[in-house]
Amino acid sequence: MEFPVDVLSALPDTISVIKPRDLVFVRGESEKQKSLRLIIDAMGEASAAAQDLKTIITTTHKFKESKHHLYVIKDQQNTYVVGILKVGRKKLFLVEEEGIQYEVEPLCILDFYVHENCQRLGYGKKIFETMLENENVEPHNLAYDRPSEKFMSFLKKYYNLANYTPQPNNFVVFREYEFQELDKSPSKAARRLSQPYDDCTTPRSRTMPRHGRCSSLPVSPQSTSASYASVSATTLTAPPTESYIQAKRNIINLNQEYRRQMLYGSNPLV
Ligand code: ACO
Repeated sequence: MEFPVDVLSALPDTISVIKPRDLVFVRGESEKQKSLRLIIDAMGEASAAAQDLKTIITTTHKFKESKHHLYVIKDQQNTYVVGILKVGRKKLFLVEEEGIQYEVEPLCILDFYVHENCQRLGYGKKIFETMLENENVEPHNLAYDRPSEKFMSFLKKYYNLANYTPQPNNFVVFREYEFQELDKSPSKAARRLSQPYDDCTTPRSRTMPRHGRCSSLPVSPQSTSASYASVSATTLTAPPTESYIQAKRNIINLNQEYRRQMLYGSNPLV
């Protein structure tokens, strides 16, 4: 995307990292901040259009209020802005392959865009690699906010990432993601405790309403019954009331039987 030379000069390097504090001003916006604003808003708008998004997710206004990092790449001659990559941490509830729920705060890929005229020329790889090094993170330990098919193809090609467990939100976390024992969500413990007693045989996917926004997510080759749900609507953590009560009753009966046998043995007259 073309910008006047003085606007472009706000980006010192071929790949520059913009942080929210770079845009904060007290006594009026500086020339550099004005230039950054023009670049961010134009690239954010182009990204949203390329992804068919209803709202623009990268604007100077939103970025200033965030803790995100925005990587911006120029072409080799430093004459155009070619692409952007926005990352930031988010608290997420994620479910791993075996159904255990974790509460994690991974670095997330929030917006990624390379100008249409420059796609498939290696710019995406260049900016992505710079981000990995700068943020000190491996691609398999990132969470991806509703990646497009092009992005999925990119991740498969360069990092062999393809298989993921469908999540109760818009994020894709690949099977290779390294969950930490400490991150196990407490709600998961509650769910586990309920399992030996209840007769909850309903697959979780059937208890989670589908999330409209997720329908365009590419389906993982390994996940044949991919279904997605909004976090607020998920029933993952709540034990079914009926079976929970039944489980409680079973425990009480067992305890009574145990006490009776301790007192009277197996005398049939008692
Ligand atoms: N169709 C399919 N795959 C594509 C396409 C395309 N039009 N463009 C790039 N790719 C993938 C392919 O794997 C391609 O390898 P190939 O050419 O051998 O098939 C690889 O990316 C090329 O790698 P780069 O040249 O390094 O990537 P590029 O500079 O094209 O950037 C990006 C990749 C950012 C996904 C770019 O294609 C783009 O901006 N797409 C439109 C917007 C988009 O979908 N962004 C991701 C949104 S999801 C999110 O932000 C979390």
